Amino acid sequence: VQDGSLIPRFLGARRDRSLAVLEGLHALKHALRFGARVQVAVTDDRAELARLAGRLSPDVAERVLALACDVDPETFGALAPYPPSTHVVALAERPSVDLLALLSASEPAPVVLLEDPRDLGNVGACVRVAAAADVAGVLTLAGHDPWHPDALRGSAGLHFALPVAHAPSLAALAVADRPLVAVDPAGQPIDPSELDPRAVLAFGGERRGLSRELLARAERRVSIPMRAGVSSLNLATSVAAVLYAWRLAARSVSPLA
Ligand SMILES: C[S@@+](CC[C@H](N)C(=O)[O-])C[C@H]1O[C@@H](n2cnc3c(N)ncnc32)[C@H](O)[C@@H]1O
Repeated sequence: VQDGSLIPRFLGARRDRSLAVLEGLHALKHALRFGARVQVAVTDDRAELARLAGRLSPDVAERVLALACDVDPETFGALAPYPPSTHVVALAERPSVDLLALLSASEPAPVVLLEDPRDLGNVGACVRVAAAADVAGVLTLAGHDPWHPDALRGSAGLHFALPVAHAPSLAALAVADRPLVAVDPAGQPIDPSELDPRAVLAFGGERRGLSRELLARAERRVSIPMRAGVSSLNLATSVAAVLYAWRLAARSVSPLA
């Protein structure tokens, strides 16, 4: 297909909050596995895409190839700032998130709250580990669109594996008896076996950490112990440490596959 409308369509999708831009096979693979409605997928090398899909994602390879339409390398190179080496880009509809239903869910799984995260790659890495640890969802407060294409690249498309949304305010989270736990370097050393499994675990932005308002509202403030001299961990690293400390200590959650 040499369709001149593809380039404006893909570039426009980067600013369209109803769409998700999937850059690369891993992102498309995860999106398909977790039920994404893919609108269009494009490749500039069907043979190589078939080879990679057969090797890396045999469960969805047939669907990837059925969805993909062919374009020349020049058109493909104009569809994304960094054309993926796996030779595929796609657009999917973003699933809508029911914030109240997410917060009210009774399952023993925490919600990750990222307050004003600045680095979209970090946001994606947080979504990826949150999906792996099977938490209830990831919410952001202030800051960037959590579904920005750069965040989706960081999560390898795992935004489709759990609810990911922007929360309108801190007050909007205080609806369903989930305790707010601030994860902060100045907190008490964490005891993961004591974490409420339905907690909202709040992590601060890369530069400023958690706001005073959030700290004041939090029921508890917990820290990840560090060697003296190290001032803090990277945001996504700290999300990973806390979620897996919780997973490995919790007896009430079903084991991961
Ligand atoms: C890069 S840190 C922010 C550093 C910021 N200057 C501060 O003092 O909070 C980003 C976020 O990661 C989490 N974090 C990093 N290291 C941590 C630690 N040792 N204990 C608890 N949380 C930590 C916190 O949620 C923090 O707000």
